Amino acid sequence: MLFRTQIIPSLLSKIRCMSNIPENLVYGGPKPQNPNQRVTLTHLRQKHKKGEPITVVTAYDYPSAVHLDTAGIDVCLVGDSAAMVVHGHDTTLPITLDEMLVHCRAVARGAKTPLLVGDLPFGSYESSSNQAVDTAVRILKEGGMDAIKLEGGSPSRITAAKAIVEAGIAVMGHVGLTPQAISVLGGFRPQGKNVASAVKVVETALALQEVGCFSVVLECVPAVVAAAATSALRIPTIGIGAGPFCSGQVLVYHDLLGMLQHPHHAKVTPKFCKQYAHVGDVINKALSEYKEEVMNGSFPGPAHTPYKITDTEVNKFANELQKLGLDKAAAVVAEKINTSSNSKD
Ligand code: KIV
Repeated sequence: MLFRTQIIPSLLSKIRCMSNIPENLVYGGPKPQNPNQRVTLTHLRQKHKKGEPITVVTAYDYPSAVHLDTAGIDVCLVGDSAAMVVHGHDTTLPITLDEMLVHCRAVARGAKTPLLVGDLPFGSYESSSNQAVDTAVRILKEGGMDAIKLEGGSPSRITAAKAIVEAGIAVMGHVGLTPQAISVLGGFRPQGKNVASAVKVVETALALQEVGCFSVVLECVPAVVAAAATSALRIPTIGIGAGPFCSGQVLVYHDLLGMLQHPHHAKVTPKFCKQYAHVGDVINKALSEYKEEVMNGSFPGPAHTPYKITDTEVNKFANELQKLGLDKAAAVVAEKINTSSNSKD
């Protein structure tokens, strides 16, 4: 009993003095998470072998990464879709490698458990295999990612994927609708809708598997084509707009949360995307309420005015202000002492 009531409190106060854990600070900071829990390719292979679906969601910043982590999502993709849903571009083409690296680093700080995959942005890997390897290295080294994703399956792309894998970097392929290629595809068009195109989807996915990709995204292809690819491949397929017969699914964070509620964005949210929430409506409502309360003076009220100064200190403060010739400010302080939520001595 003596131990509990006397020794432990005094010990704890000493630990507190030595600790760098913030106490009574404005911001507490994020809690450290366990780095040993990271999802690896081995985990994904085990899930795939057992027939368990693999969950993939995009993230672009610290808060979205923490949400994915908390939800237990297997793979966090820092997609070049950031160009559209974060930066407001009409396509994925404009985003640069440096911009992607900023997103990657923020996500790496927030998502401690999911496997982290960073997209190679348009213009950062097409020139040569050397360029592709150099970019992939930066995504891991400077972006803190575990793996990269690249789009397409032309012979030069397959060679680049092979070179990246040989450099020791895990590669996720991406076939079907590859948004970086809208120039040649003629827009955001579904693929695999005729025999030649369907066969190309399966053959390209197989070629990516052969050079060592650990999985392949199948975007906007008919479900039966995705089913054929999933059956033909040993590695997992990750579908987006590709129906239910894939080894896993991926959706874009903003799309699945229904974050972009502006009519313009509502139009560009893909029709395959189920909106699991209407977060955009919640955000709009909160911002309107905030604006209203600031305008009518009800925010901040006593509950959100936390920092106190004793009346004794306030009186001394008013005196000091007077000495400084700031009589008006001193009068304001004297007036507020009676009306504010300030603490008493
Ligand atoms: O950039 C992205 O978000 C993607 C997914 C759509 C797969 O590539």
